[in-house]
Amino acid sequence: MAMRFTTASAKTLKAYSALFVRGLQTFSLPDLPYDYAALEPVISAEIMKLHHQKHHQAYITNYNKALDQLHAAISNGDASAVVKLQSAIKFNGGGHLNHSIFWQNLAPVEEGGGEPPKGSLGWAIDNDFGSLEALIQKINAEGAALQGSGWVWLGLDKELKHLVVETTANQDPLVTKGSSLVPLLGIDVWEHAYYLQYKNVRPDYLKNIWKVINWKYAGDAYEKES
Ligand SMILES: [Fe+2]
Repeated sequence: MAMRFTTASAKTLKAYSALFVRGLQTFSLPDLPYDYAALEPVISAEIMKLHHQKHHQAYITNYNKALDQLHAAISNGDASAVVKLQSAIKFNGGGHLNHSIFWQNLAPVEEGGGEPPKGSLGWAIDNDFGSLEALIQKINAEGAALQGSGWVWLGLDKELKHLVVETTANQDPLVTKGSSLVPLLGIDVWEHAYYLQYKNVRPDYLKNIWKVINWKYAGDAYEKES
């Protein structure tokens, strides 16, 4: 028993040493702040489990792999390999960033999901879009019109000091649409986010998701950033 412990410890130490020497920060799957079934009937437990355990995990696995390859490419002075890795880093790193926000943008109804925004974000929405209903209509329309896979965002433009609705393709984070943009709310409109339940009817998924949107998270992010 003692022998096994020693061997395991040596292996762990070696792994940590390797990470430390390389200065690499790898990522692991964050826990969801609620159970997989907690957003039903709006989003099924089956979708949530697959989305978190398979899709988000795959972005993290591939991002860590790309970082490892990037380190090797830099160490070898291989500029061609460094450049070639950029798209994998953007796609998988973006996937990890976007999903980490998305899970927090949702909340079970009994924990405040769907409750309209209060405080300064509520005022800003009225000011910039006319009303919460008008903002939701705009996000739903832009999310439904997005061709292929991507995200629809409510963001804050920190320079111009107003709210924006933007879409991004694939796993591009909101910051790719402008360096002063910070995400308050991101809705995943990839088919993997809704197909098992809503089939091809993305507008129904978008219409329903507002019942479990965590406006408190968006409001806190707005107050922190503005
Ligand atoms: Fe997703």
